[in-house]
Amino acid sequence: MNADQLREQLKFYRDIGVDELYVREAIPSPVIPVSSSIDEGVTVASALPSLAPEGDTLEKIRQDIGDDCRRCRLCEGRAKIVFGSGNEQSGLVFVGEGPGADEDAQGLPFVGRAGQLLTQMIENTASKEGIPIRRPDVYICNVVKCRPPENRAPQPDEMEICGQFLFRQLMAIRPKAICAMGSTAAKAVLGTKEGVTKLRGKWHKWRDIPVMVTYHPSYLLRAYNVEAKREAWEDLKKVLHFVYD
Ligand code: URA
Repeated sequence: MNADQLREQLKFYRDIGVDELYVREAIPSPVIPVSSSIDEGVTVASALPSLAPEGDTLEKIRQDIGDDCRRCRLCEGRAKIVFGSGNEQSGLVFVGEGPGADEDAQGLPFVGRAGQLLTQMIENTASKEGIPIRRPDVYICNVVKCRPPENRAPQPDEMEICGQFLFRQLMAIRPKAICAMGSTAAKAVLGTKEGVTKLRGKWHKWRDIPVMVTYHPSYLLRAYNVEAKREAWEDLKKVLHFVYD
């Protein structure tokens, strides 16, 4: 790689909010062509350098995070790092915001009330649509791996620091589609400030991977969100058929 290519690559990392880099070995710079958008979706980039070390795996990423990560202030209040769970070869990855109290205690994503709703949504929708998958068949993770205090939204620097691990997870799994739940996940994955209401229901892209944005299950738990529940069900049907048909 020459100096211009390196500058370009570093600029790209900065643009997507990555400040800290992990160089396990020389990082090649393959150009991954992002084909034209599917459906009415938005193509976010046309040619991007690699985001992850060659041969990256979830195990290496987990090791790189370490058992006592102190890269941001979220370490101060966390009990357990919540890396992700599910099928590491899954064609579908769900991305949430960050761990809540139950997730922090157990070290697993989406195991509290929002998690129970997510499980029901995945399993009931799949079953109604005749798609033979259960929650363990998909992979679930969050933008930040440590619980924000009082369940506040992660701050931009926390998302930047932890986002590099999310991107590596997505690169290592290379799912057929990503489902970004809520505005934090949409912002991290698509790099947009646009709200969920505007983004949901349409296909977008992260690198060459189709991304569906939908409501966060915590939002759907609020009793008055009947219309949002219907819309989230529509979004999920689209994703499940796209990945498993
Ligand atoms: N909300 C999230 O965004 N992630 C979890 O893991 C749990 C609740």
